[in-house]
Amino acid sequence: MSVPLKSIPADLQSGFWNFRANTAEAKTGASGVISAVGNTPLVKLNRFLPGAQFELYAKLEALNPGGSSKDRAAISLIQRGLDTGAIRSDTTIIESSSGNLGVGLAQVCAYFGLRFICVVDQKTTLQNIRLIKSYGAEIDLVLEPDVETGEFLQARIDRVQTLLRSTPNAFWPNQYANVYNAVAHHRTMHEVVTALDGRVDYLFCATSTCGTMRGCAEYIRQHNLSTVIIAVDAVGSVIFGGQKANRLIPGHGAAVRPQLFQANLADRVLCLNDLDCVIGCRRLARREAILAGGSSGAVAMAVTKIQHEIPPGSKCVMILADRGERYLDTIYSDEWVGEHFGNVAELTTVRDEEEKCLATF
Ligand SMILES: Cc1ncc(COP(=O)(O)O)c(C=O)c1O
Repeated sequence: MSVPLKSIPADLQSGFWNFRANTAEAKTGASGVISAVGNTPLVKLNRFLPGAQFELYAKLEALNPGGSSKDRAAISLIQRGLDTGAIRSDTTIIESSSGNLGVGLAQVCAYFGLRFICVVDQKTTLQNIRLIKSYGAEIDLVLEPDVETGEFLQARIDRVQTLLRSTPNAFWPNQYANVYNAVAHHRTMHEVVTALDGRVDYLFCATSTCGTMRGCAEYIRQHNLSTVIIAVDAVGSVIFGGQKANRLIPGHGAAVRPQLFQANLADRVLCLNDLDCVIGCRRLARREAILAGGSSGAVAMAVTKIQHEIPPGSKCVMILADRGERYLDTIYSDEWVGEHFGNVAELTTVRDEEEKCLATF
């Protein structure tokens, strides 16, 4: 029997959706694991760029319970479905994701007792598939890319459409087009702004569905903030008009421009390559003891590349979207890095003159 599901419990609503996440009642954890989504730490980094004259902060989205910023999107997309009645107790959630959103949705669906089918492809890591299945979700593996475009993304979307037609009471969150993906990040930006007493000069964030960037940009505009948004995309991604090319590191970038994209959300776009991700991640690990995912490495290198353009005294924030454990066989594997880029030890270790700066902390 189909019954309306009780949505986010009242105590959690006050903590999660009304931006009162820092209050004591929101920290009691009374509403299960989803009450732990959001309110991630914003930490000041003193070592990553020795000698920098500006303040650099990292928003550690890895500390969401599902391990990434996509926990926020997952809960927002499902909450919206519950609010509108599109999701009921007998609804099956069907979504295409090769990574973090799949894990986030698996977590939220397990919490609400909803059936979830995650459409993945051969590029999805075994670890992600295992994670998604561990929450009780089902995996639907697409074996062939789309014939016309050669893209797995298109093939996965086609498979979602097929499953929607054949599955009774199915609901597609559609992370690439659903504005509630972006709405989730109003709160992300609110947390950052609140933590820095209202002043954020630069925000660096990686892009794929554009949910994070759009949500933060909407918040910035709604609150008349002067924050400069730097979008960090992948070389080979088409989001900002670049040429499509193969990319090794998943997470940020997209082979098709997402519907959530809007021109003028970002003040500036920087495209970083796979090697940048590796260098940035390894520097974050060695200099700041932060084991982060590939897009975080790109974001960190974006700051590195334009550091001399940032006025002294500025407050800069990097959103670090996920954790490094999911990249142990790639970014953090010397064999994998050697195979793809040769010996990069020199690029990732701390140089002598930097050592002296680090010693002052
Ligand atoms: C690791 C990682 N970083 C960045 C992003 C980009 O976030 P968004 O989809 O909100 O643009 C994603 C999206 O999947 C991601 O998985």
